[in-house]
Amino acid sequence: MQETLTNILRHAGARNVWIELAVAGDGLKLTVRDDGNGFDLAESHRRAIGGGSIGLLSMEERAALADGRIEISTAPGAGTTVRAMFPLQAAQSTVDTA
Ligand SMILES: Nc1ncnc2c1ncn2[C@@H]1O[C@H](COP(=O)(O)OP(=O)(O)O)[C@@H](O)[C@H]1O
Ligand SMILES: [Mg+2]
Repeated sequence: MQETLTNILRHAGARNVWIELAVAGDGLKLTVRDDGNGFDLAESHRRAIGGGSIGLLSMEERAALADGRIEISTAPGAGTTVRAMFPLQAAQSTVDTA
């Protein structure tokens, strides 16, 4: 959430942001959507893997630590939607063994 909002402020030039947190099936789903510039995801990934930025990669890594995953839909001119999905079962067992 923090990284997506920082990215929207820094990069998107958006007018609106929609945030939804919902239980979907047996998981938790966080959606952050903006109506800004959008971007070339493949290009940004290449740049990130080459050491050019860490925001998107660190979101993916942090989601994976909680057995979750990130999905990004975006295109230049079309806004951006970032979804983070986490299994509630895994979150529960993490708490139990803590
Ligand atoms: N919501 C967004 N709207 C437009 N561009 C974005 C958005 N989120 C990310 N980007 C693009 O993806 C790139 C990589 O993001 P990130 O890995 O967080 O690096 P950083 O924010 O440090 O540049 C950004 O530089 C920007 O070009
Ligand atoms: Mg960033």
